[in-house]
Amino acid sequence: MIGNLWHMLKQADKENYAVPAFNYSDIWDLLAILDAAEEKRSPVIIASNPLVAKQIGIEICGAFGHALMQKAKIEVVHHLDHSTSVELCRQAIANKYPSVMIDASKYDLATNISMVNAVVLSAHKINVHVEAEIGRIRGMGIEGEYSGDDFLVQVDEAVDLVEKTNIDSLAIGIGTAHGFYQGKPEINFKRLQEIDQAVRIPLVLHGGTGIPHDDIRQAIALGINKVNIGTIIHCTYMNNMREELINAGPNPYTLDVVRPVMKKIGEVVSYWIDTCGSASKSQGGI
Ligand code: 13P
Repeated sequence: MIGNLWHMLKQADKENYAVPAFNYSDIWDLLAILDAAEEKRSPVIIASNPLVAKQIGIEICGAFGHALMQKAKIEVVHHLDHSTSVELCRQAIANKYPSVMIDASKYDLATNISMVNAVVLSAHKINVHVEAEIGRIRGMGIEGEYSGDDFLVQVDEAVDLVEKTNIDSLAIGIGTAHGFYQGKPEINFKRLQEIDQAVRIPLVLHGGTGIPHDDIRQAIALGINKVNIGTIIHCTYMNNMREELINAGPNPYTLDVVRPVMKKIGEVVSYWIDTCGSASKSQGGI
C-alpha cells in the first residue's frame, strides 16, 4: 500500500523506532528490499538517487515505484533522494513520487530556503512530502560528496529553515557520512538533541552504512525518525553479483545469477530493519 509518510514518521516518533530508507539501483535490488520489508512487516521507504532516476528515466521510475507501492502489503513510500535540482523534484512530483528531497545544503541559508520553498509549493498542492537538508552530510558516496570541516548543523539555521518553509522532515549534518567510514563515525549526539528540542518536524539521519547498531539506537532515542541506507545495498549487490558470476561458468542466465544476490541484499535489509526497530510496525493489512 502507498504509505502516508507523515503518519509513518509520527508513528515512529511515538514508538521510538525509525523508518528505514533504502537506496535502490534497479528493479532487482528494489524487489529484494520490498520482499525483505514485507517479510519483516516493516514500513519502508524506497529511494532513487538522481543518478538512478535520470538513467532509468523519471517517468519509468515513477511508474514502477507507484505500481510496487500499490502492490505491497506493507506501507511503502517511493522517495526521490538528494535532488539538488528543483526541476527534478517537480518531475518526480509529476510522476507519482509521494516524497522528494530537495538538497540545497551546499548553498547559503537564503538560497536553501528559496529552493525548498519552490519545491514545497509544487509538492504540497498534491500532498507530496518534502525533506530538506541543513548542515552537510560528509564523505564520498554516490548520494553526495563533501569533505569540508563545517558540516555541523547550526540550531538557529535549522529553526530558520523550518520556520521559513513548510517542510515535512529535515536531514541534519551531525557528523554522519555517505559511503564507508574511515574509522568509527563521530556523531554529535548533543547537537542532535538540541535540534530535536528546537524543531517540531521529523529528523532524518543520512549515511547509515557503517554506523554501529548502538549509535543508530541512540540517534533514534534522541529524535531521529528516518534512517537512510545506501552504500551497503549497492556494494552487497555488486560484490555478490561478481561472486555469482565467477562461480556461474559460461553463458549464465540472468535470474540464476540474480536470485541468490537478492537473497543477500534481503539479509542486509533485514539487519537494518531490526536496527531501526521497524519490524512488525507496518499498519498494512498482512
Ligand atoms: P550511505 O550510502 O552512507 O548508507 O548513505 C545513504 C544516504 O544517506 C542516502 O541519502
